Amino acid sequence: MTTLAPRTDFPILEEVTYLNTASIALTPAPVRRAVAEFDERLAGGGTVRFDDAAEAAAYEPARNAAARLFNTRPEQIGITTSMSEALCQVAWWLRPAAGSNIVAVDLDFPSVTYVWMRLARETGCEVRLVPALADPAALSFDDIAALVDDRTVAISVSHVQYATGLVLDVSRLADLAHSHGALLLLDATQSAGMIPLDAAASGADAIFAGGYKWLCATFGAAVCYLAPALAARFDAPFAGWRSVTDQTLFDATHLDPLYGARGLEYSTVAYGSGIALGRAIEYVLDIGVERILEHDRQLAGLLLEGLTRLGGQVITPQAEHLHAGIATARFPGQDAVRLAARLAAEGVHVSPRLGGLRYSAHFYNNTDDVARALAVTAHVLSATG
Ligand SMILES: Cc1ncc(COP(=O)(O)O)c(C=O)c1O
Repeated sequence: MTTLAPRTDFPILEEVTYLNTASIALTPAPVRRAVAEFDERLAGGGTVRFDDAAEAAAYEPARNAAARLFNTRPEQIGITTSMSEALCQVAWWLRPAAGSNIVAVDLDFPSVTYVWMRLARETGCEVRLVPALADPAALSFDDIAALVDDRTVAISVSHVQYATGLVLDVSRLADLAHSHGALLLLDATQSAGMIPLDAAASGADAIFAGGYKWLCATFGAAVCYLAPALAARFDAPFAGWRSVTDQTLFDATHLDPLYGARGLEYSTVAYGSGIALGRAIEYVLDIGVERILEHDRQLAGLLLEGLTRLGGQVITPQAEHLHAGIATARFPGQDAVRLAARLAAEGVHVSPRLGGLRYSAHFYNNTDDVARALAVTAHVLSATG
């Protein structure tokens, strides 16, 4: 199996075996070049090269690309500095009151739960965590459904679990949330760019995705989709000079509400990050997300088989529709942090997560990468076992 993009766009692959997209993706050379040119023009030319109109339009390409990615309209998209920033804004706007609850998962990425814990200190709302840490591979839709009731304001969960790679069924979660009058707030950071997601068809009320993982952008920009019904009400809790329809007016005496996803963008930011995000999404779309899913899933399948052969206790669900590009295994008696460091010393880059080794494969990886990673893992295990 070959890669879906030229390896020359990712020169470090000549030197190392990189199976760590779930941590930080490699950004393709054409995207890196576009950002470098933009940053150089801006830093060297100030308003000569980047005037008020250019600044107002800077994130249009990213919004357009993200709209294509989620099969929606650019009006439904806001570009924020990170996934956490977008989720925090939506959460603080919602401000669930005492007596209401939020349902989340205990093994999810901390940003997905912490915002609600912070809000609980403010309002007294309840944060209900689905207990999955004891058996991470077994987390199911039913476990989540068991905690949702008519006092649930939102289900806050990741589409793909960062540590185990479990893929949740978004439409079922949306139906579950809506049947209780709740919202589905979906963190797609570990899926956007790898798993096709039609925003409207999914039923999710909001979708958040950081750019530097499967979308292959850089740090500093994330996509936030707000469904039309939510967007019509959404009045962003933060405000700055860009929180207006026409940001060239500079009228400090009036702040008319700017409802919807654009309201998430309120301040001067490192625009190069948004330029990177737009270009990276276009790069991913040119390859095709359906093709990427098939590719990444096959590589993850090979990793899961190999890790099992090596005696690993796999915590990624084995059924094909329940995983994508992530494969994680624990090796009893072995310290995952030390194992990952030993692998890195041999040129194989993976991450220690939840006491296991997390391997993550994307479109720039091939079967040789998988074979090398497994061979080096076997070698390191035999040396430490
Ligand atoms: C599921 C998930 N959400 C979000 C993030 C990162 O969020 P942020 O970029 O806002 O720090 C990660 C990073 O690993 C993640 O795995």
